[in-house]
Order: sequence, then C-alpha cells, then structure tokens
Amino acid sequence: MGLTKEDKTILLLLLWPYAKISRLLRPHLDSIKNKVLKINKMATNRTFTMIKPDAFADAHTGAILAMIEKAGFKIKAAKVTHLTAETAGKFYAVHSERPFYQDLCQYMSSGAIVAAILEKDNAVADFRTLIGATNPANAAEGTIRKIFAKSLEANAIHGSDSDENAAIEGSFFFSGLEIM
Ligand code: CMP
Repeated sequence: MGLTKEDKTILLLLLWPYAKISRLLRPHLDSIKNKVLKINKMATNRTFTMIKPDAFADAHTGAILAMIEKAGFKIKAAKVTHLTAETAGKFYAVHSERPFYQDLCQYMSSGAIVAAILEKDNAVADFRTLIGATNPANAAEGTIRKIFAKSLEANAIHGSDSDENAAIEGSFFFSGLEIM
C-alpha cells in the first residue's frame, strides 16, 4: 500500500527538523569531529608505570615521583606492592619467549615496587621520553633511567609502550574503584 498525501506531509514534517539540523551542522562537521576526537584522546591519555625493586629499595621513589609530577603527569592511582614470581610472569607474559624472561620475573619479584597510573596529554610517548631508553647506557641525559637505573634489568622504572597496553597493565594492578 502506497503513502497517502497526508502520510507524506506528516513524514515531511517529522523529517524536516533533522534535514534542517544536518544542513546547519554540515559546515561545522570537521570542527565537531576534531572536538570529539580530542575529548576521546584526553580520556585515553593515560599510561602505566612501575618503580622497580632496585629504585624502590634505594629510596628513589620520592625523587622519581617528583620528576614525574614536575613533567606534568597527574597521579590517578598508586600503590606499593610486592609481586610474586608468578604475578610478575603474568604481567610480563608478552616476553615469555625471550631469553631474559626468567631473570626478569625473578628480579621483578625480588622486592617491593610502586605501581601507578598517570595522566597527561600524549601520556605514553611523553612518559617514555621522560624515562629514557630501556638500557640506561643508551638513555639521554636527565632521564629517569639515566639518573637512577643500574643496568638493563635493574632499570629503575617501567613505562607502557602503547595506549592499549597502558589500559591492560593499569587494570592488572588496579580495580575501577582505585582509579581516580
Ligand atoms: P621494561 O620496560 O619494564 O620491559 C621489559 C623489561 O625487560 C625491560 O624493561 C628490561 O628491564 C628487561 N630486560 C632485561 N633484558 C632485556 C633485554 N635484553 N632486552 C630488553 N629488555 C630487557
């Protein structure tokens, strides 16, 4: 059954506001899209870090957190904890095929650590710049690893390598209730 003239009028009246709104919005679509992207980006601009057993045992936690805050990161969650070899193994499961995996798990469970979730624009990349290269021998002057790390293994601090891993690693240590 086709639409009557009356049906068509009602449909037109119903759709008119949408057509009008979409015509009004069209010139601003790019700017609206950019704003939405920016809001989404801000919401995921978090990274995860651990102050490792060597740095914690040597009482560098305060100095390291001060550097992190001075660089503009906000601490959204933090705790002192002690991994077992098993939990360290789960955290670093991505490295399970690497030759250094067993030593890494043993080292990461050798003493207390500080786990934290940090927030800042461009958090993952900026944090990796702040901490410096994995091997402190290659770390730039003024970076956390250059100042506090002892070796490739005892390299003072961990920083997530992507937004996705930051979210996975953060939720490994913190429940939603513990995160600001
Ligand atoms: P992190 O950023 O915490 O991620 C994995 C860790 O493995 C790394 O820091 C190093 O401390 C440690 N590690 C030990 N040996 C190596 C290696 N040969 N290459 C890379 N990482 C290593």
